[in-house]
Amino acid sequence: MFKNKIKIAPSILSADYADLKKEIERVKQGGADMLHVDVMDGHFVPNISIGPPVVKSVRKATDMFLDCHLMISNPLEYIDAFANAGADLISFHLESESDPEKTIEKIISTGVKPALVLKPKTPAEEVFPFIEKLAMVLVMTVEPGFGGQSFMEDQLGKIQKIRKKASEVNPDLMIQVDGGIVPATASLCVEAGADVLVSGSYIFGSDDIKGAIDSLRPCS
Ligand code: DX5
Ligand code: ZN
Repeated sequence: MFKNKIKIAPSILSADYADLKKEIERVKQGGADMLHVDVMDGHFVPNISIGPPVVKSVRKATDMFLDCHLMISNPLEYIDAFANAGADLISFHLESESDPEKTIEKIISTGVKPALVLKPKTPAEEVFPFIEKLAMVLVMTVEPGFGGQSFMEDQLGKIQKIRKKASEVNPDLMIQVDGGIVPATASLCVEAGADVLVSGSYIFGSDDIKGAIDSLRPCS
């Protein structure tokens, strides 16, 4: 079985934005490995969240690894803004209007790690031509746009296919899952080959943040 260390990425979409610094400190103390920042433009997805100014403030507030998930129509136009704001990794959707090759090259040129995201209806094979250049692939396990939705089990086969392809062309590729992650769905994803687990409502809705984060690491 695939044996990378499992990383937990709390999504601040479910945090209290008025108290973000404290919320970030809570998940850091709880043992989180990176921070997942959901950026929504109200066009690519039917919801609006935050943009570069908030990422810049978060960067000042923490030294945690910042994983920025761009759910926006034209990611290429905003790579400089998010890189300058302090993103460590930028993921953008294959279904967006930007050219994937150009966008990956642009992210690399800013010194940030590149990642591609697949919505539930997008087949695994569509990301194969880009895997060699990517640090991570994010397999959405809900339709992007909102926290608190139910996990889509039919995405597990997609994770397996991408892990198989990555083992041939880019063994270090991280595979992230996002949406409906709780302990039971976390182990299914890890078994399928995922190694970075995003979780919003489950972690931030818990009174025991460390307990919640630990419970997402299979075999912990
Ligand atoms: C949804 C976002 C997720 C969201 C996950 O479009 O990409 O990161 O915060 O939330 P939960 O873990 O509550 O499903
Ligand atoms: Zn996300």
